[in-house]
Amino acid sequence: GSGSFVPAVVIGTGYGAAVSALRLGEAGIPTLMLEMGQLWNQPADDGKVFCGMLRPDRRSSWFKSRTEAPLGSFLWLDVINRDIDPYAGVLDKVHFDQMSVYVGRGVGGGSLVNGGMAVVPKRSYFEEVLPRVDAAEMYDRYFPRANSMLKVNHIDKGWFEETEWYKYARVSREQAGKAGLSTTFVPNVYDFGHMRREAAGEAPESALAGEVIYGNNHGKQSLDKTYLAAALGTGKVTIETLHQVKAIHQQPDGSYVLSVDRIDTDGTTVAHKEIACRHLFLGAGSLGSTELLVRARDTGALPDLNAEVGAGWGPNGNIMTGRANHVWSPTGAHQSSIPALGIDDWDNPAAPVFAEIAPMPAGLETWVSLYLAITKNPERGTFVYDKATDRAVLRWTRDQNTPAVDAAKSLFDRINKANSTTYRYDLFGPQLKNLSDDFSYHPLGGCVLGRATDVYGRVAGYRNLYVTDGALIPGSIGVNPFVTITALAERNIERIIAEDVKAAS
Ligand code: FDA
Repeated sequence: GSGSFVPAVVIGTGYGAAVSALRLGEAGIPTLMLEMGQLWNQPADDGKVFCGMLRPDRRSSWFKSRTEAPLGSFLWLDVINRDIDPYAGVLDKVHFDQMSVYVGRGVGGGSLVNGGMAVVPKRSYFEEVLPRVDAAEMYDRYFPRANSMLKVNHIDKGWFEETEWYKYARVSREQAGKAGLSTTFVPNVYDFGHMRREAAGEAPESALAGEVIYGNNHGKQSLDKTYLAAALGTGKVTIETLHQVKAIHQQPDGSYVLSVDRIDTDGTTVAHKEIACRHLFLGAGSLGSTELLVRARDTGALPDLNAEVGAGWGPNGNIMTGRANHVWSPTGAHQSSIPALGIDDWDNPAAPVFAEIAPMPAGLETWVSLYLAITKNPERGTFVYDKATDRAVLRWTRDQNTPAVDAAKSLFDRINKANSTTYRYDLFGPQLKNLSDDFSYHPLGGCVLGRATDVYGRVAGYRNLYVTDGALIPGSIGVNPFVTITALAERNIERIIAEDVKAAS
């Protein structure tokens, strides 16, 4: 393959990667970002960049022959998923033995497919999870910086109370209230001003057209519109798409060499490249960064990586569930796909839960109330290298999710009891199942801060090698994670540029 050298490489274009690239670019460091997914800015034949949720096509999924939506069924019927052509689409579901993980693929990573919920964790829980990080500095400086850069905004409360698009959230709020539970408004990066113009017929619909997990055509301030646009604006940052990093090794002079496959949109490898750099930042996400390091350690390419690489993984306690409402309390045929409320029972010492009130934007009345619960599950998984497949496989068993299921169940049992309602048993596949315990939207850990790395994400055992993303957070953060990932990356890169990068250049 052809060889080239750049001072800094950032793998991935999600939150941690985008923060790092912007700050490197501002410091004048030529920086190359390598992203395995596509740049999502070209409309297809239907005039749209992304496909919708109700009639998904190949753009929806990363090399699947059938879509894999989180709610797999309705009335136990397989009516939600569709056969598609394998393609470099925007949402991936990575399957391990007893756990699956959804991740975004493309320039912007998870920001392309996520619900945009921008939540700063409770300070006491942040301090519990990351005790060696100065919380005062995080809450005074880096969380505000992240919120401002991400363009986090708040829903107008008057509009929330009156619009049909959030009836589902108001119904859930009332039902939670009957059980003595309180709700809180959740900030978002989706532009609520745009959403109101959608409702008024003055802007093209996206949140109000059910778009989210396969991408939003309008309204969402994903990373390509915030951090990555700013990074490119420095003139020092370039992004190569459809470039998948396969392996990392180090040369005697300390520089790193990446083996990279360039693929086309139907998955064919069209070129192989070797790219060398002095400073290497892993921002490929909890799964991606951890796999690259586990592989590097266990193939002997980077033998001094420590035993903590691969450890400390968790699904942020994610449990999805649906409740069946009475016919006299409909949730509405019109539902914004962007959540605006959460049930906050995190201070319940027996079973802390923060549950996002999720939409079920089916375009017709379903009487379903849907939730994504974030629970405090102390169980952790470990990634181990599988030589036969050259992949990192996740050691995590279904029963490790029992604490999360029990916590979610204790909260929704209370809501059901107070409202004389029941669970829906038909939403998670052909079997009778009321709580999902086998997938996560919030993979965290694998290269935990202060264990696999120092307290700034410098990988232990190596110089000029860094982890910048969700892999640093030990399995749980108590809320939706991207604001924390962003703020932590801001903190770390500031220190790394001052002490490591500037000193070297
Ligand atoms: P992230 O996963 O964002 O980015 C990693 C990037 O690296 C990807 O673009 C990937 O393609 C690329 N990559 C991986 N391996 C590579 C390789 N070997 N070579 C090249 N590129 C590689 N969070 C939240 O706070 N609020 C919310 O509302 C939601 N909602 C939500 C919904 C859904 C459907 C999902 C899937 C996720 C969420 N999340 C969320 C989670 C949130 O999106 C997630 O925590 C962050 O995107 C993680 O950011 P990272 O920087 O860790 O990596």
